[in-house]
Amino acid sequence: AKCLQKTDAFLHRSIGTDVVIARAEATRSDESDEKNGRKSLHTLHMERQEQAERSVLISCQSSTNEKKFLKYLSKHGEINKYFFYESYGVYAVVEFANQESVTSLLEGVAIPGGSHESAVPFKSRLLSLRNLGSVDSSNQLSGRQCQPQTTIPINELIKRLSREESIDKQISSLTEAYQLTEENSRLRFLVCSLLKDIATAYFPECTIKPFGSSVNGFGKLGCDLDMLLDLDSITGRNVKLPKSGLSLEYQMKRANSERAVTQSILSVIGECVDQFGPGCVGVQKILNARCPLVRFAHQPSGFQCDLTANNRVAMKSTELLYLYGELDPRVRSLVFTVRCWARAHGVTSSIPGAWITNFSLTVMVLFFLQKRTPPIIPTLDHLRDLAGTIQHSHSGPLRISCRPIAFWASSPMAEAPSAWQGPAAAFDTKVYTYSCCCSRMCFQPALSPSLSLQGKEQNKPEVAPLHIQNPFEASLNVSKNVNASQLDRFVALCQESAWLLQQSETSTPRGGGAGGKGAPTPWGLATLLLPSQVAGIKSRKKRRREPASERIKGLLESLKNKNQLKKS
Ligand code: CTP
Ligand code: MG
Repeated sequence: AKCLQKTDAFLHRSIGTDVVIARAEATRSDESDEKNGRKSLHTLHMERQEQAERSVLISCQSSTNEKKFLKYLSKHGEINKYFFYESYGVYAVVEFANQESVTSLLEGVAIPGGSHESAVPFKSRLLSLRNLGSVDSSNQLSGRQCQPQTTIPINELIKRLSREESIDKQISSLTEAYQLTEENSRLRFLVCSLLKDIATAYFPECTIKPFGSSVNGFGKLGCDLDMLLDLDSITGRNVKLPKSGLSLEYQMKRANSERAVTQSILSVIGECVDQFGPGCVGVQKILNARCPLVRFAHQPSGFQCDLTANNRVAMKSTELLYLYGELDPRVRSLVFTVRCWARAHGVTSSIPGAWITNFSLTVMVLFFLQKRTPPIIPTLDHLRDLAGTIQHSHSGPLRISCRPIAFWASSPMAEAPSAWQGPAAAFDTKVYTYSCCCSRMCFQPALSPSLSLQGKEQNKPEVAPLHIQNPFEASLNVSKNVNASQLDRFVALCQESAWLLQQSETSTPRGGGAGGKGAPTPWGLATLLLPSQVAGIKSRKKRRREPASERIKGLLESLKNKNQLKKS
């Protein structure tokens, strides 16, 4: 109960009515953080949104002459940045230095003609380039100039990792290959900005912000684009009414609940996206979900999009994850490694179902890092205390996420740098710890503990195979969807990976292929990404019936020995 009370107080401060003052307060801390090369998520959002407003998305032909194209666009003003990418054809993202350039460009854009199809006359910053003159073959766009928007295939990643000399380097290399690029991040904000142009037809002051893995620092190329229709600036939540005298308020239509309002807004915006949104296809309104959403594919960017509204808790957990990821680059690397491993073995999937989600996995990794001795990242309570201290000294409310500098200064890492023996050690222990912790969960569901970012295991409030508390809503289990067989499979895979990492032939570079001919022999992390021997099993019983390979025999033996040791 004490724990819950604290969370409530923390929530009240961070999602309360004082956001406006907090933002002003945050600006000061942002300045000091930026001097140290670190940005708060709030600053990142503001910068990227502003860039996106000055950008256009243009479908080009591969015969486009790059120089001619730039010369043509430059007539409207200075271009800050541009890049090309491929998605159902070649596209260009062009960011002008000034907003006026976009206005000037759009003034000269034609409405498409057409013989048998009629166009919905909704104008947006998604354009098509027509080349009316003769095709000039010099300086044409080639595949090389296109920025990748998807990750390298797993086999290529395995080869790349096998060439690295240490597990540390493998982990860095994996993160490097998978993380979102600067260009991909810009494109995500541009898609939000294009959708905002649709929503502002009804709600002129609204914004559409990306959340989840697009911005929390843990997103890989190709991840979905979670968006929040932010109506807070309109709702007047932050406007203080005078205590006496006259004042006016808007007459507004009312609905039974906040949820009903969200549903009706998303229903209308979803309809507009479907009917008017260029490039938006396969629109589905999933309004009866716990968190109502509109799902669709944005073809020009290739993003699978989820648009939600009134989802402040998700935005808060995004900020929290971003903050944890910024504490030390190794936090992100470990999360990337575990997410990649999970995807390679089908523990996670792009299709919704009974599997563990990336969000749950991330919370597990953070929990693991909180449980080290000494802890590698602070618990939520610790963050709350830090926020409290700073709040006191600055005599103003505070959005803790805007003050990462305070956490670096007082993080356990600063006091005990030797806590990290390198991510390899962390990964090794992690897999082992998971296997222990999850085995308990799996075999004694009623008694098993629940994970929370309070850094404590608690008794599970419900009978679910896996229980992971939502960091900001203690009553929500983020892994509620996971069924027993999926958890069982996860545990088996963790055990296998832990065992593999303990084998000397797996944990040392094998040579062969490095710098020369032929594929390098997989070792270390690369071995963990190879198809598993236990992946096919659905339950423990079934596995026993299957003929065990030498590798599995070894694995089972080692587990049996461990259990015997524990019993004795
Ligand atoms: N979220 C949440 N509770 C859940 C699921 C999601 O609070 N049960 C929030 C988290 O902030 C999460 C975001 O919604 O980051 C987006 O959810 P999702 O797309 O499922 O996860 P991502 O973190 O974006 O990971 P992925 O790359 O798989 O999309
Ligand atoms: Mg997502």
